[in-house]
Amino acid sequence: MALGIGTGKRPTSDEPVEELLACHQRIRDMIALALRLGRAAGLPAALPADDVAAAAARVRRYFVEALPRHVEDEEQSLLPRLRGRSGALDAALTAMHDQHGAQGRLEQALIAVCAELAGDPSRHAARAAALVDAATALDAAYAEHLAGEERVVFPALAGLPDAERRAVRAEMRARRLS
Ligand SMILES: [Fe+2]
Ligand SMILES: [Fe+2]
Repeated sequence: MALGIGTGKRPTSDEPVEELLACHQRIRDMIALALRLGRAAGLPAALPADDVAAAAARVRRYFVEALPRHVEDEEQSLLPRLRGRSGALDAALTAMHDQHGAQGRLEQALIAVCAELAGDPSRHAARAAALVDAATALDAAYAEHLAGEERVVFPALAGLPDAERRAVRAEMRARRLS
């Protein structure tokens, strides 16, 4: 379709870090899609209503259904196993936790405008600025958040013993089956 939607490549190994990095790519893809959808309202050729509705529904569904599982992976499977190993890691985990809360509030704004456009794509032009604002705020917040996790938290996970990493992977899979 005209807006393009990321394919969300699957990881090729059983390492939990691989799956978490794939989740990060999907987060970046969905924020980029939301930005393209918002900015497309200013283009000379209007997007077909079906494309607007489909893209908005896709973004909304990702942030409502999929992203919370990634946050649970980090809050419930990573944080308790990594806490107390070093001052720098503890600081990164605290920042991660605090950012999850702040981002949740930003996500609600994006979810609301996407839900509106999914139900009534004729509102695309009227709601484009709100969509761009919400996606831009999330883009900035996530740029720092994802980089911090990838720089400090994920390498710490990769350094855990095999049994611990397997347990994390099993918990992540169980979340996606429920
Ligand atoms: Fe996170
Ligand atoms: Fe993350």
